[in-house]
Amino acid sequence: MSPADTLEVAPGGALAGTVTVPGDKSVSHRAVMFGALADGVCAVEGCLMGEDVVSTINAFRAMGVRIDDLGDGRLTVHGVGVDGLADPAAALDLGNSGTSMRLLCGILAGAGIRATLVGDASLSRRPMRRVSEPLNSMGARIETAPGGTPPLRLAPAGRLHAIDYALPVASAQVKSAVLLAGLFADGVTHVHEPAPTRDHTERMLGTFGVAIDYGGGHAALAGGQRLRAAAVQVPADISSAAFFLVGASIAPGSELMLPAIGVNPTRTGILEILAAMGADLTRQYERRCGDEPVADLRVASAPLRGITIPPHTVPLAIDEFPVIFVAAACAEGTTVLRGAEELRHKESDRIAVMAEGLSALGVAVETFDDGIAITGGPIGGGRGDARGDHRIAMAFAMAALRASGPIVIDNAAAIATSFPGFAAMARAAGLRIAS
Ligand code: S3P
Repeated sequence: MSPADTLEVAPGGALAGTVTVPGDKSVSHRAVMFGALADGVCAVEGCLMGEDVVSTINAFRAMGVRIDDLGDGRLTVHGVGVDGLADPAAALDLGNSGTSMRLLCGILAGAGIRATLVGDASLSRRPMRRVSEPLNSMGARIETAPGGTPPLRLAPAGRLHAIDYALPVASAQVKSAVLLAGLFADGVTHVHEPAPTRDHTERMLGTFGVAIDYGGGHAALAGGQRLRAAAVQVPADISSAAFFLVGASIAPGSELMLPAIGVNPTRTGILEILAAMGADLTRQYERRCGDEPVADLRVASAPLRGITIPPHTVPLAIDEFPVIFVAAACAEGTTVLRGAEELRHKESDRIAVMAEGLSALGVAVETFDDGIAITGGPIGGGRGDARGDHRIAMAFAMAALRASGPIVIDNAAAIATSFPGFAAMARAAGLRIAS
Protein backbone atom coordinates (compact mmCIF):
# COMPACT_ATOMS: atom_id res chain seq x y z
CA MET A 1 0.00 0.00 0.00
CA SER A 2 1.49 3.39 -0.94
CA PRO A 3 1.73 6.05 1.80
CA ALA A 4 -0.78 8.18 -0.13
CA ASP A 5 -3.23 5.33 0.30
CA THR A 6 -2.89 5.39 4.09
CA LEU A 7 -4.08 8.18 6.38
CA GLU A 8 -2.69 8.48 9.87
CA VAL A 9 -4.53 10.73 12.27
CA ALA A 10 -3.33 11.49 15.78
CA PRO A 11 -6.02 11.66 18.45
CA GLY A 12 -7.65 14.77 19.86
CA GLY A 13 -7.66 18.38 18.76
CA ALA A 14 -10.45 20.74 17.77
CA LEU A 15 -11.58 22.30 14.49
CA ALA A 16 -11.62 26.07 14.04
CA GLY A 17 -11.67 28.72 11.34
CA THR A 18 -13.24 28.81 7.89
CA VAL A 19 -13.24 25.80 5.60
CA THR A 20 -14.09 26.33 1.94
CA VAL A 21 -15.05 22.90 0.64
CA PRO A 22 -14.95 22.17 -3.10
CA GLY A 23 -17.85 22.13 -5.53
CA ASP A 24 -20.81 19.79 -5.35
CA LYS A 25 -20.09 16.50 -7.08
CA SER A 26 -23.64 15.85 -8.29
CA VAL A 27 -24.03 19.35 -9.67
CA SER A 28 -20.57 19.28 -11.28
CA HIS A 29 -21.30 16.05 -13.18
CA ARG A 30 -24.53 17.49 -14.49
CA ALA A 31 -22.92 20.81 -15.49
CA VAL A 32 -20.43 18.94 -17.69
CA MET A 33 -23.05 16.59 -19.13
CA PHE A 34 -25.67 19.21 -19.91
CA GLY A 35 -23.03 21.64 -21.16
CA ALA A 36 -21.84 18.96 -23.59
CA LEU A 37 -25.40 18.39 -24.84
CA ALA A 38 -26.22 22.09 -25.19
CA ASP A 39 -26.25 24.19 -28.34
CA GLY A 40 -23.42 26.66 -27.72
CA VAL A 41 -20.64 27.33 -25.26
CA CYS A 42 -21.17 26.98 -21.50
CA ALA A 43 -19.08 28.45 -18.72
CA VAL A 44 -18.92 26.42 -15.51
CA GLU A 45 -17.57 27.89 -12.29
CA GLY A 46 -16.80 26.15 -9.01
CA CYS A 47 -16.65 22.73 -10.67
CA LEU A 48 -15.33 19.92 -8.49
CA MET A 49 -12.21 18.61 -10.23
CA GLY A 50 -12.20 15.32 -8.30
CA GLU A 51 -11.53 12.05 -10.07
CA ASP A 52 -15.22 11.22 -10.52
CA VAL A 53 -16.03 14.43 -12.38
CA VAL A 54 -12.80 14.10 -14.37
CA SER A 55 -14.13 10.69 -15.49
CA THR A 56 -17.24 12.43 -16.82
CA ILE A 57 -15.14 15.12 -18.52
CA ASN A 58 -12.90 12.52 -20.18
CA ALA A 59 -15.91 10.51 -21.36
CA PHE A 60 -17.35 13.52 -23.17
CA ARG A 61 -13.97 14.43 -24.60
CA ALA A 62 -13.80 10.88 -26.00
CA MET A 63 -17.15 11.54 -27.67
CA GLY A 64 -15.88 14.65 -29.43
CA VAL A 65 -16.75 17.41 -26.95
CA ARG A 66 -14.16 20.10 -26.38
CA ILE A 67 -13.85 20.95 -22.69
CA ASP A 68 -11.26 23.54 -21.66
CA ASP A 69 -9.98 23.43 -18.09
CA LEU A 70 -9.23 27.04 -17.16
CA GLY A 71 -8.08 26.12 -13.64
CA ASP A 72 -9.68 26.76 -10.26
CA GLY A 73 -12.85 24.86 -11.12
CA ARG A 74 -13.56 26.95 -14.22
CA LEU A 75 -14.44 25.05 -17.37
CA THR A 76 -15.54 26.02 -20.83
CA VAL A 77 -17.72 23.32 -22.34
CA HIS A 78 -18.22 23.56 -26.09
CA GLY A 79 -21.64 21.93 -26.44
CA VAL A 80 -22.28 19.78 -29.48
CA GLY A 81 -26.08 19.60 -29.19
CA VAL A 82 -28.20 16.55 -28.34
CA ASP A 83 -27.40 15.08 -31.76
CA GLY A 84 -23.68 15.90 -31.82
CA LEU A 85 -21.98 13.17 -29.76
CA ALA A 86 -19.68 10.76 -31.61
CA ASP A 87 -19.12 7.07 -30.83
CA PRO A 88 -16.02 6.79 -28.63
CA ALA A 89 -13.09 4.89 -30.16
CA ALA A 90 -12.40 2.94 -26.96
CA ALA A 91 -14.29 1.85 -23.83
CA LEU A 92 -15.25 4.74 -21.55
CA ASP A 93 -13.56 4.21 -18.18
CA LEU A 94 -15.66 5.84 -15.48
CA GLY A 95 -13.35 4.88 -12.62
CA ASN A 96 -15.17 4.88 -9.29
CA SER A 97 -18.11 6.99 -10.45
CA GLY A 98 -21.61 5.51 -10.32
CA THR A 99 -23.14 8.86 -11.24
CA SER A 100 -21.09 9.03 -14.44
CA MET A 101 -22.01 5.51 -15.45
CA ARG A 102 -25.73 5.67 -14.70
CA LEU A 103 -26.41 9.14 -16.12
CA LEU A 104 -24.28 8.43 -19.19
CA CYS A 105 -26.34 5.30 -19.81
CA GLY A 106 -29.46 7.44 -20.17
CA ILE A 107 -27.76 9.99 -22.43
CA LEU A 108 -25.94 7.51 -24.65
CA ALA A 109 -28.96 5.22 -24.99
CA GLY A 110 -31.03 8.21 -26.07
CA ALA A 111 -28.39 9.56 -28.44
CA GLY A 112 -27.87 6.15 -30.08
CA ILE A 113 -24.18 5.91 -29.19
CA ARG A 114 -22.31 2.63 -29.45
CA ALA A 115 -20.06 2.36 -26.39
CA THR A 116 -18.74 0.13 -23.66
CA LEU A 117 -18.77 1.55 -20.13
CA VAL A 118 -16.28 0.18 -17.62
CA GLY A 119 -15.18 1.13 -14.10
CA ASP A 120 -12.80 0.25 -11.28
CA ALA A 121 -13.19 -2.74 -8.95
CA SER A 122 -15.79 -0.96 -6.76
CA LEU A 123 -17.92 0.33 -9.66
CA SER A 124 -17.66 -3.08 -11.33
CA ARG A 125 -19.56 -4.58 -8.39
CA ARG A 126 -22.43 -2.07 -8.40
CA PRO A 127 -25.95 -2.86 -9.63
CA MET A 128 -26.70 -1.54 -13.13
CA ARG A 129 -29.94 -3.35 -14.01
CA ARG A 130 -31.70 -0.57 -12.17
CA VAL A 131 -30.82 1.61 -15.20
CA SER A 132 -30.60 -0.94 -18.02
CA GLU A 133 -34.08 -2.34 -17.34
CA PRO A 134 -36.08 0.90 -17.59
CA LEU A 135 -33.92 2.15 -20.47
CA ASN A 136 -34.32 -1.13 -22.38
CA SER A 137 -38.07 -0.87 -21.82
CA MET A 138 -37.84 2.48 -23.67
CA GLY A 139 -36.27 0.60 -26.60
CA ALA A 140 -32.58 0.95 -25.71
CA ARG A 141 -30.06 -1.87 -26.19
CA ILE A 142 -27.94 -2.10 -23.05
CA GLU A 143 -26.30 -5.32 -21.92
CA THR A 144 -24.80 -5.76 -18.48
CA ALA A 145 -22.42 -8.49 -17.33
CA PRO A 146 -24.30 -11.60 -16.10
CA GLY A 147 -24.62 -10.33 -12.51
CA GLY A 148 -26.21 -7.09 -13.69
CA THR A 149 -22.92 -5.25 -13.17
CA PRO A 150 -20.53 -3.38 -15.50
CA PRO A 151 -19.16 -3.54 -18.12
CA LEU A 152 -22.19 -2.16 -19.94
CA ARG A 153 -22.43 -2.52 -23.70
CA LEU A 154 -24.64 0.01 -25.45
CA ALA A 155 -25.71 -0.31 -29.08
CA PRO A 156 -27.80 2.09 -31.16
CA ALA A 157 -31.47 1.10 -31.28
CA GLY A 158 -33.39 3.81 -33.12
CA ARG A 159 -35.57 6.40 -31.45
CA LEU A 160 -36.62 5.57 -27.89
CA HIS A 161 -40.21 5.80 -26.71
CA ALA A 162 -41.33 7.52 -23.52
CA ILE A 163 -42.29 5.52 -20.43
CA ASP A 164 -44.20 6.13 -17.24
CA TYR A 165 -41.85 4.61 -14.70
CA ALA A 166 -42.24 4.00 -10.96
CA LEU A 167 -38.75 3.65 -9.49
CA PRO A 168 -38.41 0.54 -7.31
CA VAL A 169 -35.75 2.29 -5.17
CA ALA A 170 -35.32 5.95 -4.31
CA SER A 171 -32.43 6.82 -6.63
CA ALA A 172 -31.62 10.16 -8.21
CA GLN A 173 -29.23 8.41 -10.57
CA VAL A 174 -31.92 6.12 -11.96
CA LYS A 175 -34.44 8.97 -12.10
CA SER A 176 -31.91 11.09 -13.98
CA ALA A 177 -30.97 8.31 -16.41
CA VAL A 178 -34.62 7.80 -17.38
CA LEU A 179 -35.32 11.54 -17.69
CA LEU A 180 -32.20 12.09 -19.79
CA ALA A 181 -33.16 9.22 -22.11
CA GLY A 182 -36.64 10.76 -22.17
CA LEU A 183 -35.16 13.91 -23.72
CA PHE A 184 -34.53 11.84 -26.86
CA ALA A 185 -37.77 9.82 -26.81
CA ASP A 186 -41.13 10.07 -28.57
CA GLY A 187 -43.73 11.32 -26.11
CA VAL A 188 -43.68 12.43 -22.48
CA THR A 189 -41.56 10.47 -19.98
CA HIS A 190 -42.83 10.32 -16.40
CA VAL A 191 -40.83 9.17 -13.38
CA HIS A 192 -42.32 8.50 -9.93
CA GLU A 193 -40.07 8.10 -6.88
CA PRO A 194 -40.91 6.13 -3.73
CA ALA A 195 -39.42 9.09 -1.78
CA PRO A 196 -38.04 12.40 -3.02
CA THR A 197 -34.35 12.29 -4.03
CA ARG A 198 -31.93 15.02 -5.08
CA ASP A 199 -33.44 17.11 -7.86
CA HIS A 200 -30.33 18.66 -9.44
CA THR A 201 -31.14 17.15 -12.85
CA GLU A 202 -34.60 18.67 -12.88
CA ARG A 203 -33.38 22.10 -11.75
CA MET A 204 -30.47 22.27 -14.13
CA LEU A 205 -32.42 21.03 -17.15
CA GLY A 206 -34.73 23.99 -16.45
CA THR A 207 -31.71 26.32 -16.51
CA PHE A 208 -30.73 24.86 -19.88
CA GLY A 209 -34.18 25.79 -21.23
CA VAL A 210 -35.83 22.36 -21.06
CA ALA A 211 -39.52 22.37 -20.12
CA ILE A 212 -39.81 19.94 -17.20
CA ASP A 213 -42.50 19.48 -14.54
CA TYR A 214 -41.31 18.21 -11.19
CA GLY A 215 -42.04 18.13 -7.49
CA GLY A 216 -43.56 15.81 -4.90
CA GLY A 217 -41.70 12.73 -6.10
CA HIS A 218 -42.75 13.02 -9.75
CA ALA A 219 -41.01 14.45 -12.83
CA ALA A 220 -42.09 14.62 -16.46
CA LEU A 221 -40.57 15.94 -19.65
CA ALA A 222 -41.35 15.72 -23.36
CA GLY A 223 -38.80 14.29 -25.77
CA GLY A 224 -37.40 16.24 -28.70
CA GLN A 225 -36.29 19.29 -26.70
CA ARG A 226 -32.91 20.92 -27.17
CA LEU A 227 -30.66 22.38 -24.47
CA ARG A 228 -29.77 26.07 -24.63
CA ALA A 229 -26.23 26.95 -23.49
CA ALA A 230 -26.17 28.32 -19.96
CA ALA A 231 -23.65 29.42 -17.35
CA VAL A 232 -23.48 27.19 -14.27
CA GLN A 233 -22.13 28.13 -10.88
CA VAL A 234 -21.62 25.08 -8.70
CA PRO A 235 -22.31 25.45 -4.96
CA ALA A 236 -19.94 23.93 -2.38
CA ASP A 237 -20.73 20.30 -1.61
CA ILE A 238 -22.81 19.66 1.52
CA SER A 239 -21.61 16.05 1.35
CA SER A 240 -18.01 17.25 1.79
CA ALA A 241 -19.06 19.83 4.40
CA ALA A 242 -20.66 16.96 6.35
CA PHE A 243 -17.27 15.70 7.58
CA PHE A 244 -16.52 19.09 9.09
CA LEU A 245 -20.03 19.51 10.51
CA VAL A 246 -19.62 16.26 12.41
CA GLY A 247 -15.94 16.85 13.26
CA ALA A 248 -16.68 20.25 14.80
CA SER A 249 -19.74 18.88 16.62
CA ILE A 250 -17.85 16.04 18.32
CA ALA A 251 -14.56 17.81 19.15
CA PRO A 252 -14.93 20.00 22.26
CA GLY A 253 -13.88 23.60 21.74
CA SER A 254 -14.53 23.61 17.99
CA GLU A 255 -16.16 26.34 15.94
CA LEU A 256 -16.18 26.41 12.14
CA MET A 257 -17.64 28.45 9.31
CA LEU A 258 -18.40 26.69 6.03
CA PRO A 259 -19.27 29.27 3.39
CA ALA A 260 -21.62 28.95 0.40
CA ILE A 261 -22.73 25.36 0.99
CA GLY A 262 -25.50 24.00 -1.24
CA VAL A 263 -28.63 23.61 0.90
CA ASN A 264 -31.01 22.19 -1.68
CA PRO A 265 -33.80 20.69 0.46
CA THR A 266 -33.25 17.30 -1.23
CA ARG A 267 -29.73 17.27 0.27
CA THR A 268 -30.13 18.67 3.78
CA GLY A 269 -30.97 15.45 5.66
CA ILE A 270 -27.62 15.78 7.45
CA LEU A 271 -28.64 19.16 8.89
CA GLU A 272 -31.95 17.79 10.13
CA ILE A 273 -30.32 14.70 11.63
CA LEU A 274 -27.53 16.62 13.39
CA ALA A 275 -30.03 19.18 14.72
CA ALA A 276 -32.15 16.33 16.15
CA MET A 277 -28.99 14.97 17.81
CA GLY A 278 -28.47 18.33 19.51
CA ALA A 279 -25.80 19.86 17.25
CA ASP A 280 -25.08 23.59 17.50
CA LEU A 281 -25.60 24.39 13.84
CA THR A 282 -26.91 27.51 12.14
CA ARG A 283 -27.49 28.57 8.56
CA GLN A 284 -26.60 32.12 7.73
CA TYR A 285 -27.06 34.38 4.72
CA GLU A 286 -29.32 32.08 2.69
CA ARG A 287 -29.12 33.01 -0.99
CA ARG A 288 -29.06 31.50 -4.49
CA CYS A 289 -26.17 30.11 -6.49
CA GLY A 290 -27.68 29.80 -9.97
CA ASP A 291 -30.58 27.35 -9.68
CA GLU A 292 -29.51 26.05 -6.26
CA PRO A 293 -29.97 27.55 -2.75
CA VAL A 294 -26.80 28.07 -0.68
CA ALA A 295 -26.05 29.24 2.86
CA ASP A 296 -23.06 29.76 5.12
CA LEU A 297 -23.07 27.11 7.83
CA ARG A 298 -21.72 27.76 11.31
CA VAL A 299 -21.12 24.83 13.62
CA ALA A 300 -19.75 24.60 17.14
CA SER A 301 -19.17 21.62 19.39
CA ALA A 302 -22.12 20.37 21.42
CA PRO A 303 -23.05 17.23 23.32
CA LEU A 304 -24.91 14.92 20.92
CA ARG A 305 -27.66 12.43 21.81
CA GLY A 306 -28.61 9.24 20.01
CA ILE A 307 -31.79 9.32 17.92
CA THR A 308 -33.93 7.16 15.68
CA ILE A 309 -33.15 8.54 12.22
CA PRO A 310 -36.42 9.83 10.70
CA PRO A 311 -37.15 7.63 7.63
CA HIS A 312 -37.85 10.58 5.32
CA THR A 313 -34.30 11.86 5.86
CA VAL A 314 -32.68 8.66 4.54
CA PRO A 315 -32.61 9.59 0.81
CA LEU A 316 -31.89 13.21 1.79
CA ALA A 317 -28.72 12.21 3.66
CA ILE A 318 -27.81 9.07 1.74
CA ASP A 319 -24.13 9.94 1.22
CA GLU A 320 -23.62 11.31 4.72
CA PHE A 321 -24.28 8.17 6.75
CA PRO A 322 -20.64 7.11 7.20
CA VAL A 323 -19.91 10.33 9.08
CA ILE A 324 -23.34 10.36 10.77
CA PHE A 325 -22.34 6.97 12.21
CA VAL A 326 -19.24 8.63 13.67
CA ALA A 327 -21.48 11.29 15.24
CA ALA A 328 -23.62 8.45 16.65
CA ALA A 329 -20.53 6.79 18.13
CA CYS A 330 -19.85 10.04 20.03
CA ALA A 331 -23.43 10.59 21.16
CA GLU A 332 -25.07 9.75 24.45
CA GLY A 333 -27.34 6.75 23.90
CA THR A 334 -28.18 4.70 20.84
CA THR A 335 -28.79 5.88 17.29
CA VAL A 336 -30.89 3.61 15.10
CA LEU A 337 -31.06 3.71 11.31
CA ARG A 338 -33.47 1.49 9.37
CA GLY A 339 -34.80 1.61 5.81
CA ALA A 340 -31.32 2.25 4.40
CA GLU A 341 -30.60 -0.96 2.47
CA GLU A 342 -29.27 1.25 -0.35
CA LEU A 343 -26.17 1.91 1.75
CA ARG A 344 -25.08 -1.62 0.93
CA HIS A 345 -24.82 -0.66 -2.78
CA LYS A 346 -22.64 2.44 -2.59
CA GLU A 347 -18.89 2.66 -3.28
CA SER A 348 -18.67 -0.07 -0.63
CA ASP A 349 -21.23 -1.82 1.56
CA ARG A 350 -21.32 1.14 3.92
CA ILE A 351 -23.25 -0.68 6.65
CA ALA A 352 -20.77 -3.57 6.80
CA VAL A 353 -17.59 -1.54 6.34
CA MET A 354 -18.55 1.11 8.90
CA ALA A 355 -19.67 -1.55 11.40
CA GLU A 356 -16.36 -3.35 10.99
CA GLY A 357 -14.33 -0.16 11.45
CA LEU A 358 -16.33 1.16 14.40
CA SER A 359 -16.18 -2.22 16.17
CA ALA A 360 -12.40 -2.24 15.71
CA LEU A 361 -12.35 1.10 17.56
CA GLY A 362 -14.38 -0.37 20.42
CA VAL A 363 -17.78 1.09 19.50
CA ALA A 364 -20.90 -1.02 20.15
CA VAL A 365 -22.77 -1.64 16.88
CA GLU A 366 -25.50 -3.97 15.71
CA THR A 367 -26.27 -4.31 12.01
CA PHE A 368 -29.50 -5.11 10.17
CA ASP A 369 -30.12 -5.85 6.50
CA ASP A 370 -31.33 -2.29 6.13
CA GLY A 371 -29.48 -0.37 8.80
CA ILE A 372 -27.45 -0.19 11.95
CA ALA A 373 -27.72 0.65 15.66
CA ILE A 374 -24.77 2.44 17.24
CA THR A 375 -24.35 3.13 20.93
CA GLY A 376 -22.12 6.05 21.80
CA GLY A 377 -19.14 5.60 24.10
CA PRO A 378 -15.39 5.87 24.22
CA ILE A 379 -13.54 5.49 20.89
CA GLY A 380 -10.20 3.74 20.89
CA GLY A 381 -7.36 4.11 18.44
CA GLY A 382 -6.78 1.47 15.82
CA ARG A 383 -6.31 0.55 12.22
CA GLY A 384 -9.23 0.42 9.79
CA ASP A 385 -9.74 -0.34 6.12
CA ALA A 386 -11.75 2.18 4.10
CA ARG A 387 -12.03 -0.44 1.32
CA GLY A 388 -11.41 2.23 -1.29
CA ASP A 389 -14.51 4.19 -0.21
CA HIS A 390 -13.80 7.93 -0.03
CA ARG A 391 -16.54 8.78 2.44
CA ILE A 392 -15.57 6.00 4.83
CA ALA A 393 -11.95 7.17 4.87
CA MET A 394 -12.95 10.76 5.66
CA ALA A 395 -15.47 9.66 8.30
CA PHE A 396 -12.83 7.66 10.19
CA ALA A 397 -10.38 10.55 9.93
CA MET A 398 -12.90 12.71 11.83
CA ALA A 399 -13.38 9.98 14.46
CA ALA A 400 -9.78 10.63 15.58
CA LEU A 401 -10.95 13.91 17.13
CA ARG A 402 -12.53 11.82 19.89
CA ALA A 403 -10.28 8.77 19.89
CA SER A 404 -7.93 7.78 22.69
CA GLY A 405 -5.15 6.72 20.28
CA PRO A 406 -4.10 7.25 16.65
CA ILE A 407 -6.39 6.06 13.85
CA VAL A 408 -4.73 4.63 10.75
CA ILE A 409 -6.92 4.24 7.68
CA ASP A 410 -5.82 1.99 4.82
CA ASN A 411 -7.18 2.14 1.26
CA ALA A 412 -7.96 5.83 1.58
CA ALA A 413 -6.69 7.14 -1.78
CA ALA A 414 -10.27 7.26 -3.12
CA ILE A 415 -10.74 10.49 -1.12
CA ALA A 416 -9.54 12.16 -4.34
CA THR A 417 -12.70 11.01 -6.13
CA SER A 418 -14.82 13.59 -4.31
CA PHE A 419 -12.57 15.74 -2.13
CA PRO A 420 -9.08 16.40 -3.46
CA GLY A 421 -7.26 18.46 -0.86
CA PHE A 422 -9.21 17.01 2.07
CA ALA A 423 -6.14 16.18 4.14
CA ALA A 424 -4.60 19.64 3.78
CA MET A 425 -7.88 21.41 4.49
CA ALA A 426 -8.67 19.24 7.50
CA ARG A 427 -5.14 19.69 8.85
CA ALA A 428 -5.40 23.48 8.50
CA ALA A 429 -8.66 23.37 10.47
CA GLY A 430 -7.04 21.37 13.29
CA LEU A 431 -7.35 17.66 12.46
CA ARG A 432 -4.06 15.97 13.35
CA ILE A 433 -3.45 14.22 10.02
CA ALA A 434 0.16 13.24 9.48
CA SER A 435 1.63 14.79 6.34
C1 S3P B 1 -26.13 10.89 -6.85
C2 S3P B 1 -27.17 10.19 -6.31
C3 S3P B 1 -27.04 9.28 -5.16
C4 S3P B 1 -25.73 9.52 -4.40
C5 S3P B 1 -24.56 9.67 -5.32
C6 S3P B 1 -24.78 10.83 -6.28
C7 S3P B 1 -26.38 11.76 -8.01
O1 S3P B 1 -27.05 7.95 -5.60
O2 S3P B 1 -25.50 8.45 -3.51
O3 S3P B 1 -23.38 9.88 -4.59
O4 S3P B 1 -25.53 12.60 -8.33
O5 S3P B 1 -27.44 11.61 -8.64
P1 S3P B 1 -28.46 7.19 -5.83
O6 S3P B 1 -29.28 8.04 -6.67
O7 S3P B 1 -28.11 5.88 -6.49
O8 S3P B 1 -29.01 6.99 -4.45
